[in-house]
Amino acid sequence: MPLKNELMRRLKMIHPVIQAPLAGGGDTPELVAAVGEAGGLGFIGGAYLTPQQILEAARAVRTRTARPFGISLFAPQPVPDAPKDPRRALECVAPFYAELELPPPQAPALAADSFGEQLAAALDGGASVFSFTFGILPATAIEAVKARGMFLVGTATTVDEAVALEKAGVDAVVTQGAEAGGHRGSFAAEFEAAMVGTISLVPQVVDAVRIPVIASGGIMDGRGIAAALALGAQAVQMGTAFLVCDESGVPDAYKEAILRAREHETRLTRVFSGRPARGIVNRFMTEVERNAAPDAVLPFPFQNALTRPLRSAAARGGRAEFPDGAPPAGRPVHLAARARDRRSHSPAGGMITSSCVTPTVCKEKPA
Ligand SMILES: Cc1cc2nc3c(=O)[nH]c(=O)nc-3n(C[C@H](O)[C@H](O)[C@H](O)COP(=O)(O)O)c2cc1C
Repeated sequence: MPLKNELMRRLKMIHPVIQAPLAGGGDTPELVAAVGEAGGLGFIGGAYLTPQQILEAARAVRTRTARPFGISLFAPQPVPDAPKDPRRALECVAPFYAELELPPPQAPALAADSFGEQLAAALDGGASVFSFTFGILPATAIEAVKARGMFLVGTATTVDEAVALEKAGVDAVVTQGAEAGGHRGSFAAEFEAAMVGTISLVPQVVDAVRIPVIASGGIMDGRGIAAALALGAQAVQMGTAFLVCDESGVPDAYKEAILRAREHETRLTRVFSGRPARGIVNRFMTEVERNAAPDAVLPFPFQNALTRPLRSAAARGGRAEFPDGAPPAGRPVHLAARARDRRSHSPAGGMITSSCVTPTVCKEKPA
């Protein structure tokens, strides 16, 4: 098993571990910097941040570490027309608004598209890597990233998507297996058809592309890392496992929900954002899903805007039964708990070195 592969050399990684962008507040600058300092690669998930916030987060990482880090955005999407009649969706969330003492929900309005400004901030933030999900970047954006000398990473949930990303010019591809926590990155296949497990997806993509492959989805500890490397991946990208680290920005109630959850207690749902995402089953999910009417959930990103006030209020109150209260977590969540149980504290750096499957490399310190 190669200890230093092309990807690790290029990104100056000591361990083949990438902390996934965790849009929504998990990936604090402290977490991103700690991962880099420990010899992995940390990411700022910038999709929900304003350009100014992206720059501030990048600056905050830079003050903590001189190591490389990445910034990630959602590829720009065609925004669907505003739903003509959002009444049913509003009715579904209204009881939760009331419970959190928020004023009744209104038809959600979207902020103006700011991808261009977000990208400009990401390019100016001093990151070495830029990654994206939900599609393929426009050619002009790809050129802009390359012109900065940044390493470009796309996200695929099928072999065809990986091949399309390679053709578009990415330097590496993240394979997002069906187990992955958070949103599905699918863009060329039906979501349901693109639910390929990590152990199946990784070798098929490795065989189909020439660029380095980064495995993600359900990898929680050294055994998962070893398996991914054996399948031909050059690194892994872990999300849920980092959400429960000390430096993660999610509230304690959310961390506890992850640590308590069993492997059968996550599922794919559209109720949080309108786009399929894997999350721990909670009361919001079951109650909104019980209303099976197709117009009970608005299309992405309208549903995301509709549930955002609930997320913010629930986070403030440490309520785990609301959207993101049980955060989007990958399937083998109990493995994250078991890995954490072995340590009294869970600093990200400790997790990387204790999960690392390459003991010789683990002894090295980042330059
Ligand atoms: C809370 C959360 C937020 C995420 N945000 C992003 C993101 O902004 N961009 C991205 O490319 N992937 C994002 N992901 C997906 C991860 O990149 C990765 O595919 C996933 O976490 C892997 O599965 P795991 O959670 O089982 O490790 C997110 C995942 C979670 C759990």
